[in-house]
Amino acid sequence: MCGIVGYIGNRSAIPVLMDGLKKLEYRGYDSAGVAYINGNGLEIKKTKGRIEDLHKILPFPLPECKIGVGHTRWATHGEPSDRNAHPHACGGVVVVHNGIIENYQQLRSRLTSEGHEFSSETDTEVIPRLISSHMEKGNTFEESMKKAVSDLRGSYALGIMSGNCPGKLFAIRNGSPLVIGVGQNEYFFASDIPAFLQFTNKFIFLEDGQICMLSRDDITVENLGPNGSSKKARQSSGAKVVEISWTPEMAEKDGFDYFMLKEMYEQPRTVRDTMSEWLDNPPKMLDSLGLTPKMVLGLRRLHIAACGTSYHAGLVAKYIIEALAHIPVDVEIASEFRYRDQLIDKNNLFISITQSGETADTLAAQREASKKGAFTLSICNVVGSTASREADSVLYTRAGPEIGVASTKAFTAQLAALCLIAIALGMKRGRLIAAEAETLINQLKKMPSLIEKALASGKHVKDIVGRIKGSRSMLYLGRGINYPIALEGALKLKEISYIHAEGYPAGEMKHGPIALIERGLPVVVIAPMDNLFEKTLSNIEEVKARGGKVIVVTDEPGLRTKADEVIEVPPAHPALSPFLNVIPLQLMAFWSGVLNGTDVDKPRNLAKSVTVE
Ligand code: AGP
Repeated sequence: MCGIVGYIGNRSAIPVLMDGLKKLEYRGYDSAGVAYINGNGLEIKKTKGRIEDLHKILPFPLPECKIGVGHTRWATHGEPSDRNAHPHACGGVVVVHNGIIENYQQLRSRLTSEGHEFSSETDTEVIPRLISSHMEKGNTFEESMKKAVSDLRGSYALGIMSGNCPGKLFAIRNGSPLVIGVGQNEYFFASDIPAFLQFTNKFIFLEDGQICMLSRDDITVENLGPNGSSKKARQSSGAKVVEISWTPEMAEKDGFDYFMLKEMYEQPRTVRDTMSEWLDNPPKMLDSLGLTPKMVLGLRRLHIAACGTSYHAGLVAKYIIEALAHIPVDVEIASEFRYRDQLIDKNNLFISITQSGETADTLAAQREASKKGAFTLSICNVVGSTASREADSVLYTRAGPEIGVASTKAFTAQLAALCLIAIALGMKRGRLIAAEAETLINQLKKMPSLIEKALASGKHVKDIVGRIKGSRSMLYLGRGINYPIALEGALKLKEISYIHAEGYPAGEMKHGPIALIERGLPVVVIAPMDNLFEKTLSNIEEVKARGGKVIVVTDEPGLRTKADEVIEVPPAHPALSPFLNVIPLQLMAFWSGVLNGTDVDKPRNLAKSVTVE
């Protein structure tokens, strides 16, 4: 997705903006630009390509200026090019935008009929032109800006600045993430927290439909109304300052060569951090989430909606929650859930699982569930994100900023949160006896050290990846609670190494996939010593019999004689084995990407948060 930044204060603005854009690179982009106001007035520098390419076109020495905006563009309308890069300007007004203006064609026609000549193919360019158009009708700049925004339909996070109003910056949020950094006589805005974490850990999370006016010594947040009207926002709604406990280092690489590698090795800590507050008393967590005993006992069904890796976490949760709490659980891809006529009501609990809290389809699913009266709970990793603020309640994963596009530590943190929910619901509904609950809780307390042990297979996994280098397709098989882990392993490989991979329930082999098996095809089989082990062993043998190369992930050393490659993980409670079985699959995807020379932290075509449909 695009990234926007803005700064006003006493520092030299351009280095601050460029550093902020650098920190947002993980969002994925194809062009970049900045605009600033100095002694010569308003200047814009923008280019297709990377931030390094933008550096090359900046004037040196850098002009002295204290205010500016910046943008990294991930193309949605118009190919990556210099002219389509942001910022876009008209009549001294400059705009940077993340999101999609859905009615831009209609606005473009109206503005063209007024004599505007567009210089780009973007939807964004209608915004500065709309503001200019309203100013030509006698409105002030601020009135024109608010009127222009009320003309827009779609999702947008906007940064706006005007040469006619050099002492102010404006940030507007509607459907795309936007945070305000609060410093000492300086303010920042950005699409995401890491952009300016080195300057401040105090942030305001704007709500949809809000505008924030920033000057060197003042900040005002207003709720936008129809036709450019607005009124001051109350402290309680989106205008309050939240202190974030993340440090800049947490958002940096800490000596690792890749964010993804760092984040995989953070998992022991992030799983521990996610569970620590409630592990000793899971039922108390339900009370804190607003899930009263009456609601919990009256629950008839639980719906989970999510995308990608978060969806896989939901699939794992189905096995655990149904087993421990005896509540039927439906798990669905959010983009499917949102468009069908969902049978959901007030006796249902809806859980959205989302690392970013900004995934458009997941937000839409959550809103649909809320409209139909379900209690909505978001399992989310970003404080103040849209999902966390719109849900009736939020259970934060404590994974810290996940910069790598491939979700790893957020996934295991989601599993941890979902285990807490399963145990809590089971205990509260009298389905999980105290002894069983205690066993699970004790196992979860050991999980960080067990994950540490599973991570120790990194070198061995790298060697295996070296031995299957050149494979253009892989199959991942799992049964029961590890079937979602097979899906997750395949997704990781696809998105990081660009090798085609499919995850399948191992029991499905005879229904089609076994036709894929040919000599040397790598087949990853997740085979924990559980009640399905013997069945999975048969799958291993049928793959071997057809020349497939079996790579098994298991806690059973005896499989060394049955498979071509064995990756051992520590034994764990069957309900918790996904925490450990996913680790070698994450490592496998990572080393496949590195050996294939892909951009592991910023894979092609992908963005960290899919904030548009
Ligand atoms: C996972 O590795 C992918 N990056 C992607 O599938 C991701 O899980 C999905 O887009 C959902 O994102 P969210 O958790 O932020 O909603």
